[in-house]
Order: sequence, then C-alpha cells, then structure tokens
Amino acid sequence: MSADGKVVSARPSGELPTVTAHERADPCTMVIFGALGDLSRRKLLPAIYQLMKEHLVDERFALLGVGRDDTVNDAAFRDHMRKALGESDEVNGVDDELWQRLCDRLFFVSADLTSPDGYAAVGARLNEIESGRPREECNRLFYLAVPPSVFEPIVRNLSKSGLAPRTRTTDERPWMRVVIEKPFGRSLENAQQLNDLVLGLFAEHQTYRIDHYLGKETVQNVLVLRFANSIFEPLWNRQSIHHVQITAAETVGVEERGKYYEEAGVVRDMFQNHLLQLLSLTAMEPPAQMSANAVRDEKVKVLRSIRWLTPESIPDNTVRAQYTAGSTGGKATPGYVQEKDVSPESTVPTFAAVRLFIDNWRWNGVPFYLRSGKRLKNRVSEIAVQFRAPPHLMFGHQTREAMRPNTLVMRVQPNEGVSLNFEVKVPGAAVALTSNIEIAPVDMEFNYAEAFGEVTAPAYETLLLDVMIGEATLFTRSDEVEAAWRVVDPLIRYWETNKPKRMPTYAAGSWGPREADELIEEDGVEWREPST
Ligand code: BG6
Repeated sequence: MSADGKVVSARPSGELPTVTAHERADPCTMVIFGALGDLSRRKLLPAIYQLMKEHLVDERFALLGVGRDDTVNDAAFRDHMRKALGESDEVNGVDDELWQRLCDRLFFVSADLTSPDGYAAVGARLNEIESGRPREECNRLFYLAVPPSVFEPIVRNLSKSGLAPRTRTTDERPWMRVVIEKPFGRSLENAQQLNDLVLGLFAEHQTYRIDHYLGKETVQNVLVLRFANSIFEPLWNRQSIHHVQITAAETVGVEERGKYYEEAGVVRDMFQNHLLQLLSLTAMEPPAQMSANAVRDEKVKVLRSIRWLTPESIPDNTVRAQYTAGSTGGKATPGYVQEKDVSPESTVPTFAAVRLFIDNWRWNGVPFYLRSGKRLKNRVSEIAVQFRAPPHLMFGHQTREAMRPNTLVMRVQPNEGVSLNFEVKVPGAAVALTSNIEIAPVDMEFNYAEAFGEVTAPAYETLLLDVMIGEATLFTRSDEVEAAWRVVDPLIRYWETNKPKRMPTYAAGSWGPREADELIEEDGVEWREPST
C-alpha cells in the first residue's frame, strides 16, 4: 500500500494476451451504409485500422462504403478515410505501410438506399470485390450506420435485393450479418415493430444490435469481477448492499446533434440502452454458461423484474432537467435551448435521475439510482455499489460521522478500473483502544492502465471483431431491447404528456439540478462525486 493509502496491483507479465485462432475473424466484406457519416469516420474506420494493426482481421478483408454522394469514388473515399484516421484520437499515429494495406481494401459506391435500385450498384461492387473467391469465403457484414428514419426501408430493400439472404444456422457459410446502430426504436411499440420487421427478414443470429457500452472493457469486467472471484458474490445482495449508483456523466452538450436530440432526450439516448445495460450486468444472476444466450437470458430476467414506473410513482422517483448556459472546462457554453436545431421552447431533458427497484429475491428493497446528463462537471461513467454500514459501532460517536460506507466502484471511463474503500485506524498511540479511536477511509485501487499498460481496446474494435467472429454476447437480443423499452417507456410517455410549466434546469459544469440531490437525500443517501 502506498503512502496515500492506495494499493496498486500489477499484472506479472504486463503483456498482451496472444490471439487465438478463434479470435481471428473470418474473411469478409464489410459494407457500411452511411459510410461518409460521422460514425464511420470517427469510430468504424479507426476500429478497423486497429484490428488490422493487431493482425485480427483476415487478409481477405475488404470494406465497401456506401453513401449518397455521387461525386465520391474509391480514390476520394480513401482520401476521406485517411483524413479521418489522422484526426482520430483512437489511433495513435497512422503507420504508412499499414495504411497502404488498408487503403487497398477500401472501396466506395454511391447509392440511394431508400430505393430498391440502389442495391444493384452495391451488388455489382460486391461481386467485383468477391470475384475469384470460393463462395464460402464471401461472408458479408452489413453495417447500418444510418439515421433511424431510413432504417426501415433499408432493411426491407437489403433483404429484397438478395444481397443478405436469411441463413438458417450460425454455421452456414458464407454468413450474412447485419449490424444495427442504436437507437433501436423510439418506444416499446416501435421497437416491437422493428423487431418484427427485422426478424421477418433475417434470423436473430444474423442480427447484431449494437450498444457500444457493452464493448467497453470495464463493462465486460463487471461479469469477471463478479463471477471470477469468490469474495463478492456472497455479499452481492440485499443483506449486504445498501444501494447502487450508476452514473454516466458527460461534459459535452448536444453539439451538432440538436435535431436528433430533440427527438430523443436523455432517456432514449442514454437510459434505454447504456444505463440499463450497466444495471442488468450488475444485478443479473450468474449465467448457466458464458454463452450469448445464457448471458442475455439473465439480463432479460433482471430487466423484467424492474418495478414498473407509473404515473403515480414517477413524480416521486424521477427528476428531469435541462442545462443552461455556463462554462465547461473554463469555456463558455450555450444553454440547451440556445443550441443549433433546438427549439427555444424545448422541454426535452438533457439530464435525468431515476430511482429504480428490482423486485426479486436478491434485490428486494435495494434502490438503484441512475443518473445521466450532458454538460456536467466531468466526463465519467461508473457503477458504485455501496455496502451497508456496520450494524454496531464501538469506536466512539464521532467516528460514525467520519465513516464512509464501503463502496465498490467499477469505473467504466475514464481511468478504467475498480476501487474499494474501507476504514482504517488513523495512526497514533494516545487514544488507542479507547472509545475515541480515530478512523479514516482509504482506497484500494486497481487501474487498468497501470496494471496492463494502455491496452483497453476502444468499444467498436471489440464489437466489430465480435461480429466477424460471430460472437453475439455483447449485442442486444430482441427480447432484451423490448424489456429495456418496457422500463423507460412509461417515463418517456409521462414526461412527454406532462410538460412542466417551467423546465427544471442545471448550470453547465455542475453535477445536475438540486432536485436530483433531493431525490436520494430522502433515503439518507448522497450522490458520490465520481472521481476522474
Ligand atoms: C451515445 C449517445 O450512444 O453515447 C451520445 O447517443 C453519448 O449522446 C454517447 O454522447 C456517450 O458514449 P461514450 O462512449 O462517449 O460515453
């Protein structure tokens, strides 16, 4: 333990695990619909570059970008992507030789994907790319990086075009997989309709609904921490845990996405997917095995056990608010209603705090406090499991106030890691073993970067590799998406039909509105100031 009370663990070898044959992806052509968009430039291309760098992509990999712009050809697309890589903070410098290898595999075709005709052009380019390959190697990964509004015609046309036929089993070759970006639907009803549509055209094992939070290292680590250690599980229940706080705080505002955000709001944008995923991994039962379906079965059970929010319970268990102008990181920033493409009268929440209960044997009566917001003080996502206070304290009354309850914090980002605090005696002989013994909390810290070096892969890298391998554990199944919508749908409907006379606000750069503090102070609890 270091002088500041930190215990730092280190991995003995500090080396990257070796890649097994299983982890190497099958040969495939990745077709990105919406290839000129933000996601493709900021996340997908850098992820592919990194995978190539780590020799995880098959030599026969190719990428076909599809977009509307008919002035773009292969060469322009390659230039565009080279620029994107140079600007990406997920890539640590672009290696010329590696870029050349990737560049040779990049192709582009312009097509209107909302019209069936567009698919003939895509098909022709695919045939060119795949020519000379044995049929069983002509695997295709279709990535729908497109706005939700065109999602429906695209899946219909894609299926009708015959470019992505339905496969019966996971072993069939060539495989055809379809990756669908969030948001998957905008309500429970709409998500059900989308599921019906998609599953009418493709099999569930071909459908990869992405929630990039599941690709984050520490999110996957929740399962390892819980189920590869024997010390936590006996305490992981209502007898020992007082409450759980899940925070996903961002310093950014809605940036260029005002139009989307006006339709979404924080609950659709962050709760329906990311926060509920964090909650279900924290609360689920051990799966029968580490397989995609076994893990997802357990997550679905948790989501279905969450007590329904009703018009009667919503006012007492939820808080919404919007950021006002202020400053973040010393820079003046506009309020939400002054952002581009946002209505000055908007009542769309950019912050929400919610108290949820899971009605099952393990969690009965344990509150799960969830909060998320834009333009908050720090960018930090974490799950904090707070244990109950000792039933009896014999160290003098002043220690009770000084005590910090044991809290296990799983830091999703930044500084991915885990910490656990506990109480120790402050050194000093004078009052030893008297009733005035002085007690102070110290932290035990595990930090990924310190222990393993900077090896936490960006989420999209993990997830894209999983699709190429056919590993679906980190993707959301249809029933899971619907179960999550079932939780948030009543809240969204209530908030949209009960507009506040005056929208509660919070200053940019703060931790959210006062009402969020009051929400949990009623339970004698305070929000943690998450450490970054
Ligand atoms: C996305 C939301 O899903 O997640 C964004 O649409 C949000 O609004 C982002 O900013 C947060 O992800 P991350 O990985 O930056 O925490």
